[in-house]
Amino acid sequence: MSYSTRIEQIAGHLNYPKGLLSGHVAIITGSGQGIGAETARLFANEGAKVVVSDIDASKAKDVTNQINESGGSAIAVPGDMLDSAYIDELVKKAADFGNGKIHIIVNNAGYTWDGVIHKMTDKQWDNIIALHNTAPFKLVRAAASYFRVKDGEPRNIINISSTSGLHGNAGQANYALAKAGVVGLTKTIAKEWGPAFGVRANTVAFGHIMTRLTAAKEDGAFVTTPDGQKIALGIPQAQKAGRGAGGEHQDIPLRRPGTATEAASSILAVASPLFSYVNGQTISVTGGRNM
Ligand SMILES: NC(=O)c1ccc[n+]([C@@H]2O[C@H](COP(=O)([O-])OP(=O)(O)OC[C@H]3O[C@@H](n4cnc5c(N)ncnc54)[C@H](O)[C@@H]3O)[C@@H](O)[C@H]2O)c1
Repeated sequence: MSYSTRIEQIAGHLNYPKGLLSGHVAIITGSGQGIGAETARLFANEGAKVVVSDIDASKAKDVTNQINESGGSAIAVPGDMLDSAYIDELVKKAADFGNGKIHIIVNNAGYTWDGVIHKMTDKQWDNIIALHNTAPFKLVRAAASYFRVKDGEPRNIINISSTSGLHGNAGQANYALAKAGVVGLTKTIAKEWGPAFGVRANTVAFGHIMTRLTAAKEDGAFVTTPDGQKIALGIPQAQKAGRGAGGEHQDIPLRRPGTATEAASSILAVASPLFSYVNGQTISVTGGRNM
C-alpha cells in the first residue's frame, strides 16, 4: 500500500487495518534488550512482523516470546552481526517470515569500547568500525533485492547513531567515527534507492538513554568479542559523578536521560507513514542536549 493511501487512512479518511506498521516486515538488530527490544515491542504493537536479531540468543527468544504471547508476530534469529554468514541467514529468514518481503531495517546493534586516542588499540578501533559501519552496510547490501522493488509498499532503513558521532566525545574516537559514518551511509542509501524505488533512509542519533551502555560500569555488564575478549560496558561512577557542577544531566535541557521506550518511540515515528516525506535526515533524540 502506498504512503499516500496510508496517510489518508491515518487521517481518518479511509478505513484501515489498525497499526502504523500493519503488515510490514522489520529486521531490528540488537533487539534482545535495551532500545532495540523496546523498538521490537512497539513495532509489533503497531502491526509489524518483527525479526528479533541479537547475539544473545536467550534474550532474543524472550523478546520474541513476549511479543507472540501478547498477540504480536515475531521470530528470533540470533547471531553475531560481525559474522557475514549470519547476515545472509538473517535476511533469508526475514524474507521467509515475510513471505518474500522485507520493509524495514533498523541497524541498532552496538556497544562502546572506549579509550583515549593515544591508548586505543587497533583491535578496539577495528571492532567498533566493523560493528557499527561494516555490519550495517553488509545487511543493507544483503537485503538490497527486497528494497529495490516497485510493489507500491513503503520501505525504509533507520541507522542508529549517537551524539558522539555528531559532536565527538573524549575517549570515543572509534565510536565517534563509526557513528558519524552511519550518517553518510544513510544519506547514500536515500540517494541511491530513493529515486527509483521510494526507499527512505534516516539516522536517529541518541543522547543519554538509560540502558546498560549508560548504567554504572560497576554493574558489571559486558560483551564478548568473537575471539573471546570481554569488554566491560557502562560508565564509571566517578565519571558520572564528575559531569558538571549541577549534576550529571546539567547539559540536557530536559535535565534527565531518556528511557528506552522514548528512544524506541522515536524510531517508530521515523519508520511510520507519519514520516513519509522525511528522508536522509539525522534526527537527534537527546532531550535537547547539544543544540
Ligand atoms: N544508550 C545510549 O545512551 C545510546 C546513546 C547513543 C546511541 N546508542 C546506540 O543505540 C544502540 C542500542 O544500544 P542500547 O543502549 O540499547 O544497548 P544495549 O546493550 O542495551 O543493547 C544492544 C544490543 O545489541 C546486541 N549486540 C551487541 N553486539 C552485537 C553483535 N555483534 N551482533 C548482534 N547483536 C549485538 C547486544 O547483545 C544488545 O542486546 C547502539 O547502536 C548504541 O550505540 C545508545
